[in-house]
Amino acid sequence: MIRNSTFRLWTMLILISCACSSPKPSNEMNAKINDLMTQMTLEEKIGQMNLYNGFWEVTGPVPQEGAAADKYQHLKQGYVGAMLNIHGVENVRQLQELAVNESRLGIPLLFGYDVIHGYKTLAPIPLAEAASWDLEAIQQSARVAAIEASAAGINWTFAPMMDISRDARWGRVMEGGGEDPYLGSKIAVARVRGFQGDDLSAVNTIAACAKHFAGYGFAEAGRDYNTVDIGTSTLYNMVLPPFKAAVDGGVRTVMNSFNVLNGIPATGNTLLQRDILKRSWGFDGFVVSDWASGNEMITHGFARDYSHVAELAANSGSDMDMESYAYVKHLKALVDSGKVDISVIDDAVRRILKVKFELGLFDDPYKYCDPDREKDLIYHEDHQKAVLDMAKKSMVLLKNETKLLPLSKEQQKIAVIGALANDKNSPLGSWRISSDDNTAVSVLEGLLSYTDQVTYIKGAELVTAETTFRHEAPINEIDKSGFGEAVTLAGKSDVVVMVLGEHGFQSGEGRSRTRLDLPGVQQELLEAVYEANQNIILVLMNGRPLAIPWAAENIPTILETWQLGSQSGNAIAQVLFGDYNPSGKLPMTFPRSVGQVPIFYNHFSTGRPDATEMVFWSHYMDESNSPLYPFGHGLSYTTFNYSDLTVEVTGSAEVDVQVAVTNSGQVAGEEVAQVYIRDVVASVVRPVKELKAFKKFSLDPGQSQTLEFKLTEKELGYYDNEGKFIIEPGKFEIMVGTSSVEGLTGEFVL
Ligand code: NOJ
Repeated sequence: MIRNSTFRLWTMLILISCACSSPKPSNEMNAKINDLMTQMTLEEKIGQMNLYNGFWEVTGPVPQEGAAADKYQHLKQGYVGAMLNIHGVENVRQLQELAVNESRLGIPLLFGYDVIHGYKTLAPIPLAEAASWDLEAIQQSARVAAIEASAAGINWTFAPMMDISRDARWGRVMEGGGEDPYLGSKIAVARVRGFQGDDLSAVNTIAACAKHFAGYGFAEAGRDYNTVDIGTSTLYNMVLPPFKAAVDGGVRTVMNSFNVLNGIPATGNTLLQRDILKRSWGFDGFVVSDWASGNEMITHGFARDYSHVAELAANSGSDMDMESYAYVKHLKALVDSGKVDISVIDDAVRRILKVKFELGLFDDPYKYCDPDREKDLIYHEDHQKAVLDMAKKSMVLLKNETKLLPLSKEQQKIAVIGALANDKNSPLGSWRISSDDNTAVSVLEGLLSYTDQVTYIKGAELVTAETTFRHEAPINEIDKSGFGEAVTLAGKSDVVVMVLGEHGFQSGEGRSRTRLDLPGVQQELLEAVYEANQNIILVLMNGRPLAIPWAAENIPTILETWQLGSQSGNAIAQVLFGDYNPSGKLPMTFPRSVGQVPIFYNHFSTGRPDATEMVFWSHYMDESNSPLYPFGHGLSYTTFNYSDLTVEVTGSAEVDVQVAVTNSGQVAGEEVAQVYIRDVVASVVRPVKELKAFKKFSLDPGQSQTLEFKLTEKELGYYDNEGKFIIEPGKFEIMVGTSSVEGLTGEFVL
């Protein structure tokens, strides 16, 4: 599976091609686009705005429209601008040939695909990568995904997703960068850079797509596709900043979303698409709809019929229609009747053609269709190394109270319990349609590569993805017949590694949960094993934050591993045995109870935040307000000591911050220093804390480093309720430390 024969050669060629192919001057490109536009009929222009799904994979409800025969016919007529879910050079070439050789103008197609955390070689799920706070590694991971995907004929990925994730019930939190707009913005840019590289026309770069514009992650009650109703302050300060960062970072496409946002579906939303994205931010790529999100405007009660869908979507700035069939069927009549102006069509088509030019498809429509490249690069060993590196950096050590970790390499009897320990599929996570099943290294395999003193007992089945759709309890949710064996093994062992969590497909699109506990009988298994042996290392594997208060209270050591992709087991074993010192920090708050959700660190202050003897303060009667594990939390095998915080105002909106950090433990380790501010009094209230800078660095035992941060207008200002960015003078509080709840504090006045 792993090949590296001609990789170096390819890398060289790529570098050479990057160096030589200077970006096309925009006037040359414009001239070509103008020339093409004058030759195009209205039908052909509308064709460019049409995105069809392929023929064998679906990533949305199977449409009633769109017979394969019609699609082939439309490809030949030049009525299709792009395809999705077609991959592999042979398949891509076949369809590209139809478009290029048989359509009148031979305009090449875009081939879009959900390359979310890898193509074949899988990196950790994006939420896990976010936990690394390592922007270089995240960029590199997207680079690897782009290299493999482009080698398989793909030139456009539907990633990154940057929907801010505050609600762990929502299955798609696995696909985003967590709950914070500052961290989320940095990650968005890193991923865009990774996919698109410095030169979009290079053979190993692909166009990225910032999605879902906008608000999709704020689905009411965490139920996927649900309505979104948020205030303007949240919209401008939380939801939009990562998109703006991606646009400023050069993302070539943006996907709108399924949801209604404050009464207006995103796909028909002029404020979002025309006013903010295109006019105010100057986005010059194109907007693609989500899967039939146009048609969903009918069910939302916004559009009367498919013609109305096309009118609303096109006029509001949705340039390309994915699987609604609305544009291809109705736009021409709408232009003829004057309901859609031809300038709307021309603008959309120019944007789409521009991206095709930038990708170099007009120079060579088959540039991504080289079978040798595909053979050489898929599952390349360098990619395995990169995803292993990413996987190690993505783990978060939540608790290590009795220092059970790192495990000693001396002989000791290790019991390994839990279905996920021996699972080669779940670690691949959700959103991995092109991957090969059961290709992850399991935890058990990883541990066995270190020692033969490992005995494995499953203990209980995992709740499978299929059973999560049922409402009644399926057999594997209640079967405890394996508990006895697991308990006996634990009693005879020195230490127990329990690998518990969610099935790989228990998160992702359409996979919301109302409970955030360990599914099935895993919690009971954990408690039963604990009775026999308390030396438990709980290795969590899940696609979202879980509410595990009993484990947090009783289990001495907890390692959050998320779903780490192809190299999962190797990465986990290296951390367990101390060959890699964990350095991840939570990008999303862990609740104590699902009843606290949505729970996030950057909330506003209530008028009654402080505990009193009386009942009249903001609290729950049956649970604390605080999270189980806060945003930014993550331990190491060493400790870091923060001292000497200095804060100096150096301009009207400029603050210099310095802090010294010392590795006060016994081993080398990496730390993420985090800077939070609070704008104490503002004309629109500000959150109690906001991340505004961070640095990841490594220190040897005893070593110290002084870190410097500069906060400028960008970090000190905020958006008012009209979406205007303002900086207000006054007092600010600042905290610098190891998590969102632990650090040195100070203040400054602007
Ligand atoms: C629907 C999802 O919401 C979107 O993220 C994805 O890119 C499309 N389907 C295409 O698969």
